[in-house]
Amino acid sequence: MNATSVAVVTGSSRGIGLEIARALGRAGHAILLVARDVASLEAARASLAAEGILAATFACDLRDATAAQSVLDAARRSLGEPDVIVNNAGTAPTAKLEATTDAMLDETLALHVRLPLALARAALPGMKQRGAGCMVQIASTAGLRAFPFTTAYTIAKHAMVGLTRALASELRGSGVRAYAVCPGFVDTEITRGAAAAVAARGKLTIEQALQRMAEQNETRRMHTTVEVANAVARLVKDRPDGCTYLLDRDPPGFLD
Ligand SMILES: NC(=O)c1ccc[n+]([C@@H]2O[C@H](COP(=O)([O-])OP(=O)(O)OC[C@H]3O[C@@H](n4cnc5c(N)ncnc54)[C@H](OP(=O)(O)O)[C@@H]3O)[C@@H](O)[C@H]2O)c1
Repeated sequence: MNATSVAVVTGSSRGIGLEIARALGRAGHAILLVARDVASLEAARASLAAEGILAATFACDLRDATAAQSVLDAARRSLGEPDVIVNNAGTAPTAKLEATTDAMLDETLALHVRLPLALARAALPGMKQRGAGCMVQIASTAGLRAFPFTTAYTIAKHAMVGLTRALASELRGSGVRAYAVCPGFVDTEITRGAAAAVAARGKLTIEQALQRMAEQNETRRMHTTVEVANAVARLVKDRPDGCTYLLDRDPPGFLD
């Protein structure tokens, strides 16, 4: 397969990010996989290579202030100038409001908001010059409404949606597009971690906690990583007008 475009996908060593990398790879993009754990990145790269997808890896902690520039340098070095950036890396700390610390908020904002803004700042001049480019944020329904015990995450995801709206409004007419994809609960490690925390607090098993989470989705079922990935690949390919794409709706669609 000939790579016609380079896509950076953050948090792509597992879960939703790996599935997005696979969907974009199948659509002909070469992929820069980014996460912290080197062994998981290599396993992800090998699983894509087995399908004929060209991928390179870059290990770094995306909370570092210099991460955006390092990621773009790595993409240029290994694959070429990125046309697509998918800000997917994320963590979802759970804590009661009174136990939500400044450090928790700072770390969550660094990953979900400061990094996507820094990547946009660094990549935009080139994208604008070429009159093409696409930035996708994997936000959440937590970017549109609140859930208990996830204050830092809810704040960060609301800010991620706000950042995407700011990008989309300022970039209108430039050929560069920005989308925020908002899934409800998706069955991944992050979700199982949250279910384990719920189970530890109450009298539920992890499976019961997962079922309760699924019932909080508008669609009353867990989303799959493939659904999220296919939505991202369609937005990148079809270039629809719109900004905030709500996946947790039947059928999914744009809010604005
Ligand atoms: N799962 C859900 O129910 C759900 C719902 C809505 C939205 N989302 C969003 O979807 C995105 C992906 O979630 P997921 O469920 O696929 O999570 P996941 O399975 O926990 O994967 C998270 C990915 O991000 C990487 N990562 C985490 N912290 C990082 C850091 N500081 N620096 C670099 N990489 C980092 C992880 O690799 P390393 O640990 O090796 O760094 C991993 O590749 C997140 O933004 C999440 O908020 C998830």
